[in-house]
Amino acid sequence: MNDNRAESNEPIELVVEERVDAAEGVVALTLRSQGGGQLPAWEPGAHIDLLLDEGLIRQYSLCGDPQDRLRWQVAVLREPDGRGGSAYVHEHLTPGRRVLARGPRNNFALRPAARYLFVAGGIGITPILPMVAAAEAAGADWHLLYGGRTRASMAFRDQLAAVQEGTEAAAPVRTARVRTVPQDEEGLLDLAGFLQAPREDTLVYCCGPEPLLAAVEEQCASWPAGALRTERFRASADQAPDPDTATGFELVLARSGRKLTVPPDRSILRTLEAAGVSVLYSCEEGTCGTCETDVLEGELEHHDSVLTDEERASGETMMICVSRCRGAELVLDL
Ligand code: FES
Repeated sequence: MNDNRAESNEPIELVVEERVDAAEGVVALTLRSQGGGQLPAWEPGAHIDLLLDEGLIRQYSLCGDPQDRLRWQVAVLREPDGRGGSAYVHEHLTPGRRVLARGPRNNFALRPAARYLFVAGGIGITPILPMVAAAEAAGADWHLLYGGRTRASMAFRDQLAAVQEGTEAAAPVRTARVRTVPQDEEGLLDLAGFLQAPREDTLVYCCGPEPLLAAVEEQCASWPAGALRTERFRASADQAPDPDTATGFELVLARSGRKLTVPPDRSILRTLEAAGVSVLYSCEEGTCGTCETDVLEGELEHHDSVLTDEERASGETMMICVSRCRGAELVLDL
């Protein structure tokens, strides 16, 4: 059950403890709580929201050691054509600087399996890194295919290549299990060779840019339902509601009995905000999972990148920042 109440996720005050260049254009930040106390627990695949300046909120995967309850680590790629979040991190988050965070939240949890195939593209290595460590610690059979533009642009390559079992949680890996592929030297990832035929005992986890995710989804089309889990940093363009065909509907808030009208050109989230109903949200593009809300009645039209096909089919929850109702009325547990 998801309980979307704005007061349930208070920001945590963090301070930047350390900052290192993890690759060309990538900084790795080590964060600790302002008061020096324990941070909330997390598991591989989790991300946090960083509440940056001027209302910028950005999600970053935790890529350090889940056992270290005093520190979180994130790695941030500077995106020259980005929307300002990565530039802010690179320009302002230096050692000693304070920053607010929310979370962690996990939409990309590592489920138990005998065998894992991990595919990472560029900065998409960040959630995969603790997954690799967890798979190794669990004694699973795992392999990682990691692609990047150039060798110098690929963060954590040295850690992945090192044989340091047990000495560093983010890097207890055996090199034979890791295949790094700089595109300028070796071309695109050989997904057909890596993913080969579906296997019942294998789960596939992929994080990276949209073309890589689309290629892996195509390659895994014949795999069992639920075998492939992906995490998107950005919404794919074809997922947004079509403004020409979107329709309005009535929204009922079950806890208060309030009724609101969601017009065709406004999201449920914005409709709630305009009516003074406070709910949690972050990305507003269906990728972070923060606004997930329980649905009591209504035919849903999902536009998010978070829910699995099974979760969508169940109709139990929705991301109210992008998803809508196909019918005349939607009843939410708000
Ligand atoms: S706010 Fe991120 S999924 Fe809705």
